[in-house]
Amino acid sequence: MEDVTDQAFRLLCKEFGASMVYSEFVSADALIRSVNRSLEKIRVDDQERPVAIQIYGRDVPSMVEAAQIVESEAHPDILDINFGCPVKKVAGKGAGAGMLKNVPLMLDITREVVKAVKIPVTVKTRLGWDNQNKIIVSLAEQLQDCGIEALTIHGRTRSQMYQGEADWTLIGEVKANPRMHIPIIGNGDICTAEQADEAFKRYGVDGVMIGRATFGQPWLFKDVRTYLDTGKHDETMTLDWKMAVLKRQVQKSVEYSLREDNALKERKRTELGGIMHVRRHLANSPLFKGIPDFRQTRIKILRAETQEELFALLDEAKERITSLG
Ligand SMILES: Cc1cc2nc3c(=O)[nH]c(=O)nc-3n(C[C@H](O)[C@H](O)[C@H](O)COP(=O)(O)O)c2cc1C
Repeated sequence: MEDVTDQAFRLLCKEFGASMVYSEFVSADALIRSVNRSLEKIRVDDQERPVAIQIYGRDVPSMVEAAQIVESEAHPDILDINFGCPVKKVAGKGAGAGMLKNVPLMLDITREVVKAVKIPVTVKTRLGWDNQNKIIVSLAEQLQDCGIEALTIHGRTRSQMYQGEADWTLIGEVKANPRMHIPIIGNGDICTAEQADEAFKRYGVDGVMIGRATFGQPWLFKDVRTYLDTGKHDETMTLDWKMAVLKRQVQKSVEYSLREDNALKERKRTELGGIMHVRRHLANSPLFKGIPDFRQTRIKILRAETQEELFALLDEAKERITSLG
């Protein structure tokens, strides 16, 4: 997820039990132009493996070239193609979910990218462009025929953006289609361990992708993993432990931002870079839901510029949670 799944965060998700993690999506055009921020996005650490790097674009040559850059520069385990992003600046230009309006081009890109790299290629998309065009059941077969090795489906149309509830019934239909043999990963509105469990049981998917519910709580995977394995929630995660995790995320984020990197040496990398990555997580952490009058503290978190400031705000939040009993 853009501006969310940076390396510091992915490593924590992995540590807490995510089977697989994905980079933020990366523009094929920006990668080809060697835009620094894009090169930074494709950097992976061995501890993240298996890790996928996701790219998006709107034509065959740039997607093929970007896929080859990703393979040779970053060596991820998987290359994922984004045909699901609904935002105007992406879909409006025909990339991301915009490709749901031009299926022949979507299939051409997929086929050529599969041919151009040795690593497995996967796709993430939505149910269709809008309610009248929920094409995913036949589209899934066509994508599979292009040689992809797994398909992730977000149970919304492009027109829905992020509104309404995700509809998993069509995801279940894709999975139940006897012609389909690649793994199907379901996505949309999974916020709890129970919902993840239900998605596996009811729709038969091979994997569940969790997005927004992970903001500010990478430990969600620990609970989901425990619940899937034992049918019980993970009771070991105390408030102190969670606070320590958030501080670790801040530290990692700053550390990555400051780290020496020859490829990026022209770019001024500062502590603030790391802080900016992590502020959104902290401000949205479910840990702080229900604290009365927390708005001002949340604003301070969003404005903090140093690790020290953030740590002090986290300590303050912890005291307030503790005082609530
Ligand atoms: C801020 C934000 C950034 C996102 N960036 C990406 C992205 O880069 N690639 C992608 O495949 N999906 C992206 N998504 C979509 C999510 O991966 C996911 O498909 C969607 O939020 C529904 O799943 P959820 O209900 O578990 O969040 C993004 C979503 C949000 C809210």
